[in-house]
Amino acid sequence: MQDLAGKHIVLGLTGGVACYKSAELCRLLVKAGATVQVAMTEAATRFITPTTLQALSGRPVFTSQWDAREPNAMPHINLGREADAVVLAPASADFIARLAQGRCDELLSLLCLARPRERVPLLVAPAMNREMWSHPATQRNLAQVQADGAIMLGVGHGEQACGETGDGRMLEPAELFEDIVAHFQPKVLAGQHVLVTAGPTFEALDPIRGITNHSSGKMGFAIARAAREAGAEVTLVAGPVSQPTPRGVRRIDVVSAQDMLAAAVAWAQAATVFIATAAVADWRPAARSGHKIKKDGSGRPPALDFVENPDILLTVAQGERARGGRLFCVGFAAESENLVEHARAKRERKGIPLLVGNIGPLTFGQDHNSLLLVDAGGVRELPRAPKLVLARELVAEIATRLPAASLP
Ligand code: C5P
Repeated sequence: MQDLAGKHIVLGLTGGVACYKSAELCRLLVKAGATVQVAMTEAATRFITPTTLQALSGRPVFTSQWDAREPNAMPHINLGREADAVVLAPASADFIARLAQGRCDELLSLLCLARPRERVPLLVAPAMNREMWSHPATQRNLAQVQADGAIMLGVGHGEQACGETGDGRMLEPAELFEDIVAHFQPKVLAGQHVLVTAGPTFEALDPIRGITNHSSGKMGFAIARAAREAGAEVTLVAGPVSQPTPRGVRRIDVVSAQDMLAAAVAWAQAATVFIATAAVADWRPAARSGHKIKKDGSGRPPALDFVENPDILLTVAQGERARGGRLFCVGFAAESENLVEHARAKRERKGIPLLVGNIGPLTFGQDHNSLLLVDAGGVRELPRAPKLVLARELVAEIATRLPAASLP
């Protein structure tokens, strides 16, 4: 996906062993359609060569304010003027200290100070030893840099190159990439709290087996990511799936429909939008055996009794209506035929403003989907596209339907 098509990123590297990760970040940015101009401090060139970054970005790297390639001899002005964002990765403790003080005795710090702040954001990915990270001076400098308008992308936790373990390692390239992509998405859900259910549920028969379905959770996870990108606080209640948690999303893992109901009802209290994408099992075994159900030698399978599961979306939507709340509820319908009729009927039965239909067997486990939006005004199709693209379109549609009073 060309998530960064048309974007020009200045990628600034400062001295730190995490420089090796910036090679991969550069590659991800270029693959997503961005043009990348790399600028490095002298210390960064001790950790990774400009040649590597030149090869990955397809552009000569700048390392000095005295670089004679710019006709006006002002690389520190020119590079910043062309950028849609300046990304500092890794940002060393020393470089952050220099930013905090406005010092600019070499190209990259000059460039950061000289960039047009209202138009060119500065995204900072710190990388340092845990003691350096937790030092009051570093935290003071970080607070100052943020107060001056920089966007802090955070740090990771774990084993560090020095052999110690703690906070301060640079985020992984894929995490930084996700944050940079998110930065450029319109903040149409800023101030909203979006609750999403996703994936299947698993209804245990015994400690070994149970009933479930083919839902991969991909659409729900894409919606959670898109809502977060759009500026919402997001809580994702997920059934058993193997999807990575989108950045910045609060994930609550559940197994059964009853667990999912409890989590959804609890988190719906604070939510302003509820998007139910989960493929909840309609029935669960009436009784769960404490031990594995064994063959008894008779050749007859065991008689299994089922009871209906609660309808999570219906329960939340009804509860909300009963207390006169403003939670905007969105349902999904995975059908195998007659999508429009089923989706219309389902929207009315659940008493919700928006129902999103899709053909289940065509989408389960896939990276692409097409959606049908059914509301009081009629039906609209979002044609086949990657699930994340559709999720962003859906988020934009939801934003236009929210009552004006709930928007920030
Ligand atoms: O009635 P049906 O299962 O087809 O409705 C699908 C919609 O209702 C989806 O949004 C799904 O997440 C939600 N649902 C639910 N709890 C159930 C069944 C469905 O939240 N027990």
